[in-house]
Amino acid sequence: MLLSVRNLQTHLHLRRGVLRAVDGVSLDVAEGETLGLVGESGSGKTMTGLSLLRLLPKGSGRIAGGSISLDGRELTTLSESELVREIRGRRIAMIMQDPMTSLNPVFSIGDQVGNPLRNHDIARGTAVRAAVVDVLRRVRLPSPADRLDDHPHQFSGGQRQRIVAAMAIGCTPRLLIADEPTTALDVTIQVQIIGLLRQIQADTGAGIILITHDLGVAASLCHRIAVMYAGQIVETGPVRRIYRQPAHPYTRALLEAIPRLGAKRGRLAAIQGQPPSLIDPPTGCRFAPRCALRMDKCAEAPPEITLADGHRAACWKLADA
Ligand SMILES: Nc1ncnc2c1ncn2[C@@H]1O[C@H](COP(=O)(O)OP(=O)(O)O)[C@@H](O)[C@H]1O
Ligand code: SF4
Ligand SMILES: [Mg+2]
Repeated sequence: MLLSVRNLQTHLHLRRGVLRAVDGVSLDVAEGETLGLVGESGSGKTMTGLSLLRLLPKGSGRIAGGSISLDGRELTTLSESELVREIRGRRIAMIMQDPMTSLNPVFSIGDQVGNPLRNHDIARGTAVRAAVVDVLRRVRLPSPADRLDDHPHQFSGGQRQRIVAAMAIGCTPRLLIADEPTTALDVTIQVQIIGLLRQIQADTGAGIILITHDLGVAASLCHRIAVMYAGQIVETGPVRRIYRQPAHPYTRALLEAIPRLGAKRGRLAAIQGQPPSLIDPPTGCRFAPRCALRMDKCAEAPPEITLADGHRAACWKLADA
């Protein structure tokens, strides 16, 4: 397996207490596979991605338990310098939620796309420029050779997303984490970025974790889906099964909340209520306060039930069936 995460625990030590942003997450990504990590805002998707690179909020963030293995190598015990040298930006790269947080407004895009190539010795000296043009061509930035000295503000939002993708794929990472890469973009550009991710995967065989709250985007790109709620994965399975036979009440609610094409605004079903606090999460099923099917038993943490090959969900209703 390319990536295996087991029982990952990521804590943020805040003044108001310890926030369990990732609370027992296990997932696998195979070579050439795309896993969609979906769920409402605040469910711990970004923190899961950042944990794999150990890029947690400075001071407060800490991996408190579990294991992360990439190509059989344990990452949680690596030193910071090993991680910087061999993993971060090299074997695992992340396309951050907002391209402007990854791009520095004062440097040219040629410099910025070239940095990871220089740092990881992919290209040196005068060869860097040619390598940058090559990678910008791969993400289909128009006329890349003429634009190396331009700065981020001289590009459109969609182009900036391509430049950030170029920074991420320059070193041919084994695993690419794309955090909401389409959220800020209009639909046509979203389609292009999805096409781009597909093409990158076909070219390099990289595994991809696609983080999104948009189940439509996930359906078009992913092989498997993991649904996250309140720091935990509540359901995981092949994309077709998740969409046709969702098992967990939360997954069903998410699917019902997808706007149908042509549906009138205001008729979208939003999921009622709020996710629980991750500082003092309830001991039982974390979805219970919002779940129409809740029973007395749900005051205890539900077991994970296997429904079919690779399809699992954590819910008492499934244990009874
Ligand atoms: N820098 C931070 N400081 C404090 N809390 C944070 C920080 N970043 C995220 N959190 C909290 O961690 C939890 C998980 O957040 P996140 O991983 O960003 O969720 P998602 O990506 O699913 O929207 C949330 O409760 C969020 O409020
Ligand atoms: S365990 Fe109970 S509360 Fe939780 S999702 Fe299943 S039925 Fe609903
Ligand atoms: Mg996020």
